[in-house]
Amino acid sequence: MGQKTQNQQIVMREMKPKGKLGVLLVGQGAVSTTFIAGVEAVKKGIAKPIGSLTQMQTIRLGERKDKRSPLIKELVPLAELDDIVFGSWDPIADDAYTAAKKAAVLSDRHIDAVKSQLKRIRPMKAVFYQDYVKNITGPNVKKPRNKMRAAEMLMEDIARFKERNGCSRLVMINCASTEIHMKKSVFHSSFHALEDAMGGNREEISPAMIYAYAAIKCGVPYANGSPSLAADAPALTAYAAAHNVPIVGKDFKTGQTLMKTVIAPMLKARMLKLDGWFSTNILGNRDGEVLADPQSFKTKQMSKLSVLDTILQPDMYPELYGEVHHQVHINHYKPRGDNKEGWDNIDISGWMDYPMQIKINFLCRDSILAAPIALDLALFLDLAQRAGMGGVQEWLSFYFKSPMTSMPSAKPEHDLFIQHMMLKNTLRAMMGETPVDHLD
Ligand SMILES: NC(=O)c1ccc[n+]([C@@H]2O[C@H](COP(=O)([O-])OP(=O)(O)OC[C@H]3O[C@@H](n4cnc5c(N)ncnc54)[C@H](O)[C@@H]3O)[C@@H](O)[C@H]2O)c1
Repeated sequence: MGQKTQNQQIVMREMKPKGKLGVLLVGQGAVSTTFIAGVEAVKKGIAKPIGSLTQMQTIRLGERKDKRSPLIKELVPLAELDDIVFGSWDPIADDAYTAAKKAAVLSDRHIDAVKSQLKRIRPMKAVFYQDYVKNITGPNVKKPRNKMRAAEMLMEDIARFKERNGCSRLVMINCASTEIHMKKSVFHSSFHALEDAMGGNREEISPAMIYAYAAIKCGVPYANGSPSLAADAPALTAYAAAHNVPIVGKDFKTGQTLMKTVIAPMLKARMLKLDGWFSTNILGNRDGEVLADPQSFKTKQMSKLSVLDTILQPDMYPELYGEVHHQVHINHYKPRGDNKEGWDNIDISGWMDYPMQIKINFLCRDSILAAPIALDLALFLDLAQRAGMGGVQEWLSFYFKSPMTSMPSAKPEHDLFIQHMMLKNTLRAMMGETPVDHLD
């Protein structure tokens, strides 16, 4: 056995997770219930974790001639699915079984197969103010005197959940509805200002920020699957870095943006010109209903629009990408449920400026694409914490439409293949392996 492999085995042993991992989900809607039911179905051996890197992907180590390609989960010490315990908050009091049935992403066959596991998960009372999500109402909400008290109540929930379920570690993932568009302001600039604003019940403090605050204050790694402003409020990002709490976000990269971050790098790699990109979607789930409110839609739209500029670098290539007409539309269309349909019309030009078109018609299932992302984030954030890696986890940008950066001035990486390389090279580095540079 080589020295490197021996050292890795020692690291694996030292970092091996002990005890249960509590996964706390903010929002128990389509994504959360598809995630929970999927994990339970995989544990029972009746479904496969397709789309999850932590469960299915291999990682090449050393030189090609070495022929070493273990599974990622054989290289890094991840929590086992059997050791995961779920908890949630939602203003709607349905247990996870009823919520999964209402979300109607999975068939009755799959939901009923894990009924007892889902029935046990009853959402805790949410920190919820309808000013931030216009199209949701529900009775299962806390009644704190101010937003600081709301955060304290969440921290009490977190401590209670950990104790009752005998968890050794926790992670929190925000899978709640998209909130209205919030601008970063002076109230988010320092921790002191943020806490003052929470105590003063200011409107600049949204529920998503209160959950992120509670997680980070408790030292619980936090991921933001929604586009709402949360851990990316500068005060929270700085606090997480200073206190070594892993955070990451935001907005799961699932359907149309996933395609965008594959096609755009191809156009740039081949120096093909982009004239315009028109994206439209129909979806009929509750997320679509929330996004029918113009203020929530704006939050989502900003997240979807940010992608092209960073990939194409119009400042470096003004002739090719200086005048791209980019539009994104989302329409709530009930009959379609969670089975979103997206259309992209991409106008490009090639040699001597001759025009061409690409059409994409993606009939996707939003939550089916989001669930494995939630699983990977839970396991990788827990790994990051055990490896002592705090602050923004840029190596997990792969999973997000609007990746956070650790330096406010840095541009996020959007190219899916560079993001994938970052992720795998970080795992290699964590285990003392050489990053792959394709020079061998
Ligand atoms: N479905 C996807 O593939 C996908 C992809 C990218 C991002 N997202 C984002 O993930 C989030 C969840 O999507 P979904 O399809 O599960 O939506 P959903 O509407 O099915 O579920 C969201 C749940 O959050 C709850 N909620 C709202 N405010 C809350 C609060 N303050 N505290 C706790 N719970 C709250 C709602 O009651 C609802 O049950 C949305 O922000 C969405 O934009 C989803």
